[in-house]
Amino acid sequence: MKFNYLLTLSLLSVLLSAKAFGQSAVLQIGNVTGVKVNGQQVDITIDNADAQVSIYTPSIIRVRIDKKKLAPDFSYAVTGKPLTVKNTIEQNDKQITITTDSLKAVIQKKPFAVAFYTPSGEVINQDETGLGTSWAGDAVTVYKKMQDDEHFVGLGEKTGNLDRKGNGYTNWNSDNYGYAVTQDPLYSTIPFYIGIHHDVNYGVFFDNTYQSDFNFGASNNRFSSFGAHGGEANYYIIYHKKVADIITSYTWLTGRMPMPPKWALGYQQNRYSYYPEAEVMRIAHTLREKRIPADGITLDIHYMDAYKLFTWNKDRFPDPLKMNTELNSLGFKTTVIVDPGIKVEKGAGSYERGVRDDIYIKYPDGQAYTGQVWPGWCNFPDFTSAKGRAWWRNEVKFFAQSGVSGIWNDMNEIATWGQKMPHNVLFDYDGKKANHLQAHNVYGMQMARSSYEGAREQFKERPFILTRSGYAGLQRYTAIWTGDNRAEDDHMLAGVRLINSLGLSGVAFAGMDIGGFTGNPTIALYTRWIELGAFTPYYRNHTALNSKASEPWSYGEDVLDIARNYISLRYQLLPYIYANFYEATQKGLPLMRSLAINYTHDPRVLDAQFQNQYEFGKAFLVAPFESSKEYGKIYFPAGKWYDLYNDGLQAGEQDKIVQLNVNKLPVYVKGGSIIPMQSLTQNTGQLPNDTLTIHIYNGDTAGSFVYYEDDGKSFDYEKGSYYKRAISFDPAIKQINFGKADGSFKSHFKLIKLALHGFTDVSGLKTGDQQIPLKDGRYGWLAAAANTDPQGSAYAPETCPIKVAVIKNDDGAIKINY
Ligand code: GLC
Repeated sequence: MKFNYLLTLSLLSVLLSAKAFGQSAVLQIGNVTGVKVNGQQVDITIDNADAQVSIYTPSIIRVRIDKKKLAPDFSYAVTGKPLTVKNTIEQNDKQITITTDSLKAVIQKKPFAVAFYTPSGEVINQDETGLGTSWAGDAVTVYKKMQDDEHFVGLGEKTGNLDRKGNGYTNWNSDNYGYAVTQDPLYSTIPFYIGIHHDVNYGVFFDNTYQSDFNFGASNNRFSSFGAHGGEANYYIIYHKKVADIITSYTWLTGRMPMPPKWALGYQQNRYSYYPEAEVMRIAHTLREKRIPADGITLDIHYMDAYKLFTWNKDRFPDPLKMNTELNSLGFKTTVIVDPGIKVEKGAGSYERGVRDDIYIKYPDGQAYTGQVWPGWCNFPDFTSAKGRAWWRNEVKFFAQSGVSGIWNDMNEIATWGQKMPHNVLFDYDGKKANHLQAHNVYGMQMARSSYEGAREQFKERPFILTRSGYAGLQRYTAIWTGDNRAEDDHMLAGVRLINSLGLSGVAFAGMDIGGFTGNPTIALYTRWIELGAFTPYYRNHTALNSKASEPWSYGEDVLDIARNYISLRYQLLPYIYANFYEATQKGLPLMRSLAINYTHDPRVLDAQFQNQYEFGKAFLVAPFESSKEYGKIYFPAGKWYDLYNDGLQAGEQDKIVQLNVNKLPVYVKGGSIIPMQSLTQNTGQLPNDTLTIHIYNGDTAGSFVYYEDDGKSFDYEKGSYYKRAISFDPAIKQINFGKADGSFKSHFKLIKLALHGFTDVSGLKTGDQQIPLKDGRYGWLAAAANTDPQGSAYAPETCPIKVAVIKNDDGAIKINY
């Protein structure tokens, strides 16, 4: 008895001290004490925190929680403003319920916890009620109940599997030379992911710029969580039935890309570094001589005088404007690299103007922060201040005057050689004032923004902006590439997943260093990579200072032929690619689409053995494999799939082992697809012939495509100068439809050539009661490119049977029956 009494007593004291310890070391969110409904927003007082839950759209609800009073609202990511939404908000002693047509949030009062439901009552996402929201010091974490068989995709530029379940990730933008294939964090922060369970999928955007941490059941089977080392628990829940619509809503919130200049979609040749001018011109001329279509030459740090920003090394580049004009006349645009570090040098123009305008980030005692990077000791502009951005925009004039067309923002994490920038460096943070901990993850995005705004003001045409570092919403200003990868097979495949994950996270315009940045690829890997690059949004070959030459002719004649074939295919596909970029500007959908976007609930899609497969636009299925593999297993999702090269048919919802050939990238076309193509050109400034070829692949379901054309270079499209029309195909009624053209731009194409695949039984076409002549033909996807090559091709291409008809490209609606 005595023993039991003692035991109970000591247990009680252990429990009490655990509670006391728990309370002091972790602050657990408390009970709701007050509720104020303010239109679509509910302001909630909690005994140890404040919260606000508000409706943005019928499908987006935002939650803000802080243990302090909520600060005035501010975000670098969010541009969408709450819409007026039909809703009901009710409460009783236990809970508050917010209902829209598409989403319901239930806020439990004791303690505060939120759960989200579909209109039919299925759980979308709910706080883990035992853990809820809590603080360890200033670090806040929101714990969500792990749903049965829940999986996660997205989170921007993150290594690892497509399915992020079982892993944890950190966002702290970092310089990662030759990073490991599993490294985390990399260069950019996009705290947006998509959860998938049962028949439900939803997005979570955690808008907090401090170092943030995500746990998707990393060695725990209880919760998924997101949190940050400071700031608010500030997140948006987005619910739609389709993942594509979640991405569209997420990009409604954080913005979409502007139309890119068409030349930026062509092939870009780069290395660290091409110099002097004679070498740059040799590369440009060789591309033309060898008939490798190309649009861009990129200049890395050696174009500068001792790596000093806004300078040219006059020994290497005596007359940059003359060189760039000459490049332009050969059909090339020049992109130059810029780094944020401004060399501390008394008397130097840019540096002194920076001092005059007081734009450098500083320590609390007022001394500018000085760190070492390429030019030596540098100061760094405060891109989070209006005056810092204005200063940069003005400096960008230097490039406009030199005939530059693109700005490549590098080292903007901020990278300094020590990589340990002090916490006490101060940033303006657009008047809110922030230390380095809060401003670090947005610095790169604000630099890219400044470059975009400066170039938009100063350049005569649409600029191309590229960045290494960024934050959610970066797509409004810039494309991104995945930094210093290695010339290894698993890096090529990791690059595919990185770009796919960026695409799931609102960034459509992304690329990787084709061929690998550090090290030298094998011939097979180089070949595979350059083929694959044709099916990535930003197609740039780049390699490091000490690696082997990486131009398409550097690996022998056979590789040159293959590279020419795939780059030529890319150029013929530009009408398709350009229209897909237009879709990105309208809906935020990426060009490279993880199968998780359109086949979300097919469990095979998240299976690691198929995770590198992706759609390129909605027509192509690309299956990349290591270059050393002789066989590969491909999963064909629902649908009917044509082998790109020979039209061999493959039924969906099954996997198949295929023989691989390094000369040929496995690509399939979905039945129902519509693919506009043009004749081969050597750069986007050259006009193709006046026939637009529209490939239509027969299928069991209807297909559609929004065709889009504009001048490819000016901002006139913003004022309606574009040519847009819907094209559709419906096998049920045997009809092909061209909608009436919309917009004030005149299409370049006078004729439309229909190339029909899989329409073997069709013997004639008709528009109204007029017959359209239909002929049998053959089409070679690679041959079409190779045949125009005077030097011929080492690669014997396959062809597929088609039926061909040519019609006039009238702007009115065209209805064709077969
Ligand atoms: C960084 C960039 C790389 C560039 C190099 C030199 O490592 O990521 O692309 O070539 O700096 O500027």
